[in-house]
Amino acid sequence: MSTQKSSEIKRVTTHQLQEMKNRGEKISMLTAYDFSMARILDAAEVDVLLVGDSASNVMAGHETTLPITLDQIIYHASSVVRAINRAFVVVDIPFGYYQGNSSEALRSAIRIMKESGAHGIKVEGGVEIKESVLRILSAGVPVMGHLGLTPQSIYKFGTYTVRAREEEEAKKLIEDAICLQECGCFAIVLEKIPSKLAREVAEKLSIPVIGIGAGPHVDGQVLVAHDMLGITQDFNPRFLRRYADLNKVMHDAVEHYIKDVKSGDFPQDSESY
Ligand code: KIV
Repeated sequence: MSTQKSSEIKRVTTHQLQEMKNRGEKISMLTAYDFSMARILDAAEVDVLLVGDSASNVMAGHETTLPITLDQIIYHASSVVRAINRAFVVVDIPFGYYQGNSSEALRSAIRIMKESGAHGIKVEGGVEIKESVLRILSAGVPVMGHLGLTPQSIYKFGTYTVRAREEEEAKKLIEDAICLQECGCFAIVLEKIPSKLAREVAEKLSIPVIGIGAGPHVDGQVLVAHDMLGITQDFNPRFLRRYADLNKVMHDAVEHYIKDVKSGDFPQDSESY
């Protein structure tokens, strides 16, 4: 954990992320949706914080990422931005706010940047959203791509199983990744694809490739913070490593508190005025 004063801390930039790839240093990325969590993750010196549309599942309890609105993601993003001193903050443009046309995409990206103070945006898809990606980039907004399992298209695919196992889908994914790089994206996320394919993409691209369920041969890793901290319990894909069991820690603490309240043990005189 950093002991530096916030004025001395060097913020992570797209340039630094590129340099990390160039020298083979892995990039760490986690999701954050609120001030308190972002404070903890930033103090631990995670490189990138993603205000993911997974907030729709994790924060609001929806089954998919589709319902979250632009106003809601901006609310989450501005809470995260207020917390950080170092991390690069990327925000998902939610479903329905960029697929229509490139003007809509640019308007959404500008609202996120202006109203939240974030440093970049993320969009799902390849060649089919090229115009929107170019338009957003032309306004000077850094764009992160997202290929493989793209949860905003879940009803098209029907399942959350591993993507691009077949040659045709793998070929399309490589073409999409090259297209996003040529457009000027600063990085891409590859979700739930075979490790061998992810390695091929990371080797072909000069920009950083961040994996989630894409194996070790990429330039960095991203996980949903609530999953890796063990706050969520029902989601157990093979790629998820749990670094803590905060669900149990929190449950036990709350049970202890209730017991103390009921017994009159809390509060003591020393905890009263
Ligand atoms: O919304 C999200 O959390 C994401 C990650 C899974 C990459 O897009």
